[in-house]
Amino acid sequence: MKILVLNGPNLNMVGIREKGIYGSRNYADIVEYIKEEGTKRGHEIEVLQSNYEGQIIEWFQKAYFENYDGVIINPGAHTHYSYAIHDAIKAAAGVPTVEVHISNVHAREEFRHKSVTAPACIGQLCGFGEFGYILAIQALEDYKAKQNA
Ligand code: DQA
Repeated sequence: MKILVLNGPNLNMVGIREKGIYGSRNYADIVEYIKEEGTKRGHEIEVLQSNYEGQIIEWFQKAYFENYDGVIINPGAHTHYSYAIHDAIKAAAGVPTVEVHISNVHAREEFRHKSVTAPACIGQLCGFGEFGYILAIQALEDYKAKQNA
């Protein structure tokens, strides 16, 4: 599968920011880990990060027009208020999207309990650290297999 992994604001600071919550592995290492695990499973993986909402929206349009098989998104704080990203996920109809959070958002501040982007996704994973991205790849594999059955 051709999979696009999108990371939103401040995720490039993982390994530096709030290590007790996000861990000490730096962003570049996490990107390598996702690419390595994805490639092992036979996928083509592209990982992109932006601190800008509009850029993330444009990448959803790229996923649609360039026929990606799936998107994995960690929208960062946009999760909790970006109706524009919600709409972008919906606009890329037919490209299944999985939402991932490194931390367990439900065990944190109340404003993190609500995701406005997850309802546009096929599912959401949180609390498993960077392993969540690998679980999301597996979720896309399973979703595609069921679609083709
Ligand atoms: C996060 C959780 C969000 O609430 C937060 O704003 C982030 C990271 C996570 O991966 O746990 O930036 O998406």
